[in-house]
Amino acid sequence: MNLDSGQGQGRGTEFKERGFGAALSVSLNLANAPSVRRYPYYHVDLNCGSGWNDNARCEGSPLVFLNEAAKVARPGRIHTFLCDKSGTAIEKLAMHPTVLESGAYCINWDNNEVLPVVSQLIRASEKNPEMAVGSLLLDPNGFLCEKTVPIPSLIKFCRVHPRFDLVMNLNLRVYWMGRPHKFAGLGAWATKLWPSFDLFGEIFSRRHWLISNIRNPGGGDHFVIVIGRNLRAGDHQALGIHHMESDKGQLILDRIERRERNEPAPQLAFGF
Ligand SMILES: C[S@@+](CC[C@H](N)C(=O)[O-])C[C@H]1O[C@@H](n2cnc3c(N)ncnc32)[C@H](O)[C@@H]1O
Repeated sequence: MNLDSGQGQGRGTEFKERGFGAALSVSLNLANAPSVRRYPYYHVDLNCGSGWNDNARCEGSPLVFLNEAAKVARPGRIHTFLCDKSGTAIEKLAMHPTVLESGAYCINWDNNEVLPVVSQLIRASEKNPEMAVGSLLLDPNGFLCEKTVPIPSLIKFCRVHPRFDLVMNLNLRVYWMGRPHKFAGLGAWATKLWPSFDLFGEIFSRRHWLISNIRNPGGGDHFVIVIGRNLRAGDHQALGIHHMESDKGQLILDRIERRERNEPAPQLAFGF
């Protein structure tokens, strides 16, 4: 199967949710180690949606997380913050039985406002807030640009809470469109960050990175899942998620960069 295999909206979303599930399961299990399992675990979903994907007919990221959390019998409490700027999505999510039972906070804010508040809450309740464990999920339908992702507060949060795992689903179409504008110095584009993937480690203060195969659900969109951690954990070969420094990870990065430079990319014979 090709790296850019056309999957159709449904299968692409399903794959995304399976990728989220695999990544979050690892984070929860790392936080179930004897040295940390008694402490709280914090999960923040910055683009949580309604909990259900109509097109793909599958559960969305909040339920994917809560299902994984239910499988891990850790004694420490799990605090879940689910944020979306859409009131309709949050209203629907908040009524879901699994969400109600979990005690998750459903927050109808712009995500720009959420991270400083969660960080403040952690600092107020933890003796060693820099040791707090958790996960931070970003699924903006775009790339790392200010309208959908609160970049400055995200960078700060990642620095202050190094034991949070970062799980992002990023749209490469937006990346490929935005970066040339930035370097041409065009208008507002020029001032935006548009970090290349090799700078993620430095920007988000994470040492170990995974990247998924590129998936193309149609309509010109191309997505990758990117996972950043400070603890090295396994990859998810069955889902096509590789360590960034591995041969396959490097091939994916090469392909992303070639496309940005409008160079032909070799066809790669591995699939999801
Ligand atoms: C791709 S959808 C999320 C899907 C969800 N993560 C899932 O897996 O089912 C992107 C979501 O981001 C939300 N969003 C976009 N910009 C936002 C912002 N600045 N603050 C909060 N939510 C935002 C949209 O309302 C939308 O629900």
